Amino acid sequence: MIGRINHIGIATNDVEKEAANWAALYGAIDAQDAFDLPEQGVRVKFINLPNGQLELIAPLGDNSPITKFLERNPSGGQHHICFEVEDITTARDGMISRGAKVLGNGSPRMGAHGVPVIFIHPANSGGVLVELMQEPQKAQES
Ligand code: CO
Repeated sequence: MIGRINHIGIATNDVEKEAANWAALYGAIDAQDAFDLPEQGVRVKFINLPNGQLELIAPLGDNSPITKFLERNPSGGQHHICFEVEDITTARDGMISRGAKVLGNGSPRMGAHGVPVIFIHPANSGGVLVELMQEPQKAQES
């Protein structure tokens, strides 16, 4: 079973500009520094919220997986929702056994939080692209 919602992915052409918009309009000022994630073909900037994050993503490189999304949605848009799972390999195998289509070659890849992730085809979830990420280590846990 999926766990807590970790973040909502929002595609944009410019993560800094979009972060400034969320700060000015919604007061969401707790943003992290942007960074490149070549493994996923995106530039990322997280905005911290009380119960999760917004993940602003912009295309990085020539073969970014969000280039086509931005062609269809030129001013950006909601791109995916991410849920935490206890173990990414168990989750991946379970999704496949239940008939879901895991994007890419099916192997978990390193995500923006430094933990492995997979993506589930939108056709399996009411048109929503779903990211599953292995739970980050909880630093406060003793
Ligand atoms: Co994400």
